[in-house]
Amino acid sequence: MLKQQNVPRHVAIIMDGNGRWAQRQGEARVFGHHSGATRVREVVETAGNMGVDYLTLYAFSEENWRRPDEEVSALFSLLITYLKGEVERLHENGVRLKSIGNIDRLPVDCQEWLKHVEVRTANNQGLTLVLALSYGARSDIVRACQSLAADVKNGLLDPSQIDEALLHSRLSTSLLPEPDLLIRTSGEQRLSNFLLWEMAYTEFYFTQVHWPDFSKEDFAAALSVYAERERRFGGLITP
Ligand code: FPP
Repeated sequence: MLKQQNVPRHVAIIMDGNGRWAQRQGEARVFGHHSGATRVREVVETAGNMGVDYLTLYAFSEENWRRPDEEVSALFSLLITYLKGEVERLHENGVRLKSIGNIDRLPVDCQEWLKHVEVRTANNQGLTLVLALSYGARSDIVRACQSLAADVKNGLLDPSQIDEALLHSRLSTSLLPEPDLLIRTSGEQRLSNFLLWEMAYTEFYFTQVHWPDFSKEDFAAALSVYAERERRFGGLITP
């Protein structure tokens, strides 16, 4: 059991390897996404039980729109199945659902289910589960810059007033603390346009395990490694 002060407040996960996991067994890629959804249920529960406050899952990137239509629609119907099937359990467990990304681009039924679960769980005080959907960090930063530029144009803001805190306040993650720990499964070691601004001082944890095999124990192991890290945020070690 980790001491609460060593538990990351915010964990972000790139759930990678569903397709390879399925293909390795001679199955279609979608089979991997189905098994991946089961892992989402487990990890949400484990994160809450271990005292994590925020869990952000990269469920669909802006770049994922380039996948075949069949896979894209399978992912969204899987998401709806998850939301429908989990809403009451999430609520009972005190989980609050949020989403970030270009949500307007999602199929309408998917948007409606997201809204429904967000409203149903809005007052919960436990884990905040953030789904990144049609999310890209660069375009989120661009949108924030556009909103600042519009304020400058309208005389509401002077360019000298723009600082890191103000830019951050215009990002879709403005209400979230910065991630303490990023986990990426399946051996890839890159950020893939996920939370670029927010992860300036995040600790990274990469594992070879594919997402559909990522167990509660694997999640706990990542948190144990994190607990041993020394975070200096660019400063010096204090004696
Ligand atoms: C990356 O694996 C995974 C995704 C693009 C989708 C993640 C979706 C889920 C885990 C299931 C549904 C989500 C929720 C929140 C219920 P990949 O397909 O890129 O794998 P590969 O690198 O092996 O091709």
